[in-house]
Amino acid sequence: MQLTFSSVLLSVLLASAVSAAPLQSRAKGKGNKTKMMMGNQAAAQAASGAVYFISNEPTGNFIVAAGIANDGKLTLRQATSSEGLGDHGQPGNSPDPLFTQGAIKASAAGNIVATVNAGSNTLSVFNIDPKNPTNLKMIGKPVGSGGEFPVSLAINKAGNTVCAVNGGAVNGVACFKVDKKKGLVPMANTVRSLKLNQTTPATGPAGSVSHVLFSEDNKQLIASVKGVPPTPGILAVWDVAKDGSLSKDFKAVQPAKGGLLPFSMTVIPGKNAILATDAGLGVDVFDLSAGAAPGIAAGKSSALKIDGQGATCWSSFSPQTGNFYVTDIGTSLVTEINIDNNLKPKVVKQYAQGNNTATIDNDIASVRGKDFMYVLAANSTQIKVVTLNAPGKATALQTLDLAGPAKAAGLKISAANLQGMTSFIKK
Ligand SMILES: *[C@@H]1O[C@H](CO)[C@@H](O)[C@H](O)[C@H]1NC(C)=O
Ligand SMILES: *[C@@H]1O[C@H](CO)[C@@H](O)[C@H](O)[C@H]1NC(C)=O
Ligand SMILES: *[C@@H]1O[C@H](CO)[C@@H](O)[C@H](O)[C@H]1NC(C)=O
Ligand SMILES: *[C@@H]1O[C@H](CO)[C@@H](O)[C@H](O)[C@H]1NC(C)=O
Repeated sequence: MQLTFSSVLLSVLLASAVSAAPLQSRAKGKGNKTKMMMGNQAAAQAASGAVYFISNEPTGNFIVAAGIANDGKLTLRQATSSEGLGDHGQPGNSPDPLFTQGAIKASAAGNIVATVNAGSNTLSVFNIDPKNPTNLKMIGKPVGSGGEFPVSLAINKAGNTVCAVNGGAVNGVACFKVDKKKGLVPMANTVRSLKLNQTTPATGPAGSVSHVLFSEDNKQLIASVKGVPPTPGILAVWDVAKDGSLSKDFKAVQPAKGGLLPFSMTVIPGKNAILATDAGLGVDVFDLSAGAAPGIAAGKSSALKIDGQGATCWSSFSPQTGNFYVTDIGTSLVTEINIDNNLKPKVVKQYAQGNNTATIDNDIASVRGKDFMYVLAANSTQIKVVTLNAPGKATALQTLDLAGPAKAAGLKISAANLQGMTSFIKK
């Protein structure tokens, strides 16, 4: 135990020392822009909110922001350097580089957006301009992520704590207080290992970490890990103490029979339960109402096969329709899922987003009481905007091209490296 702890600590210190050097030299360089403008900035003030995703390029990571108009439609506005580097897991050079959901996360409560920099083992946090939410200002400097290959972030309800999951050779979670002057400040007793035999960058998707999330009551921090077939993956559950510190060890909860590769997690409101997409099957329901016990998920937990699925990996919840919406990188379909009062999941409807567009990260925003889904169609370098309307009644609203405006602004993006989707709505 002693040995594990000190070797983790040593690696963390080494990781931050290694990442500090390139950051400083980049800051001195003259050729690297920190902001690139896209479109009409005066019109940006009229937006209801914004969506954010990351370029995640190994030569420099940028947060790309599009304004959300009152009708739910998007317009690209700004790209802001995270002062860190992106990365791509191994092997291959295909979409979903980090094998995750939550690479970038916004909080309306905290008025912040935070991103991972997987290639420099750092995290960056930004203040959101409340008048123009596409305008971001970095708070402090990027900080070491507490491990290697950080890939996903969770923000608590109050918007003042950010937790990261690292998926590389030094893997596990780490939490940070948001200081509005200094940026992210490491919290004591929150660096916790997942004890995975991984590489930096991570090898996947099988056996890689997927997502990190707070439970609905914020009393637990949960990280999802995909299995290595035939061994199922797990949700790793830590208890969060009043001071924000985490229990020393996690409880490993496996999906119900049939579940294999837990990917994204979305809270099932009011149930102390989680919907996890499962890249090997469809979706897993984890019933944690009796507490998280190690072993196979108990209670009303279940696993639902989505017929014809390729890899169902990303999910969001719509308060307006009461349903969940999941995306599949293989079939490029959005699948609407209903979970009844007994936690029983069923497929409501599927919506095609264009063959080979490779629909990955998504988020849902409520604009004046109407819900819109924003889907990163990575392979076609587009965002698909879907109006959710009512249960079973979603309709296509917009396809936003990313490649043209990025090229015009001098921003490097590529189908294989784009990742993340998170939204912010003005108060
Ligand atoms: C721009 O950033 C890249 C990536 O860090 C670095 O290799 C390059 O030297 C920088 N260019 C300048 C002019 O600073
Ligand atoms: C870790 O994974 C590597 C590559 O698959 C394997 O060679 C090695 O034996 C594993 N180590 C442990 C401790 O399981
Ligand atoms: C997408 O692929 C399916 C199955 O191969 C095919 O039936 C359908 O026509 C294709 N759609 C488009 C828009 O090309
Ligand atoms: C991406 O597009 C290319 C070219 O259309 C296609 O060959 C490839 O299969 C697509 N990849 C995914 C993951 O959809």
